[in-house]
Amino acid sequence: MNGNITLTMIKPTAVKNGYAGPILAMINQAGFRIQAMKFMKLSKEQAQKFYEVHKARPFYKDLVEFMSSGPIVAAILEKENAVEAYRELIGATDPSKAEKGTIRHRYAGNIQENAVHGSDSDENAIIESDFFFSRVERY
Ligand code: CMP
Repeated sequence: MNGNITLTMIKPTAVKNGYAGPILAMINQAGFRIQAMKFMKLSKEQAQKFYEVHKARPFYKDLVEFMSSGPIVAAILEKENAVEAYRELIGATDPSKAEKGTIRHRYAGNIQENAVHGSDSDENAIIESDFFFSRVERY
């Protein structure tokens, strides 16, 4: 069965460039309900933990540096079939391959600074949501 939540982060460059508002508007317009949201800066250790599954990848170190370089917006988004629906809205990981009209096509700089993160499975959506939010921070 498909789950109804996904976890997103609006990444440091997108926040710095003033895209948090326009990205949240696209999320809203696409029919996602925000269950939880926070504006925060990840520590290096937190970024390492969040992206632990990519530890062996050559881009891991740079990714951790980047994700802890400035504030992000983290949010739990609710919609039927949320993981897949959100991945469609954000487009391909590499923004040069993202379809027109997607968040990454509009707001991403490159494959690392790709504007937003979206969970890649229902299982990870739950793990990632628990990483950022406690029970009393969800509505
Ligand atoms: P995200 O959706 O946050 O999940 C993992 C992140 O790793 C991804 O977005 C990119 O920011 C980054 N990433 C994935 N592949 C590459 C790559 N080939 N080079 C650099 N960064 C990458």
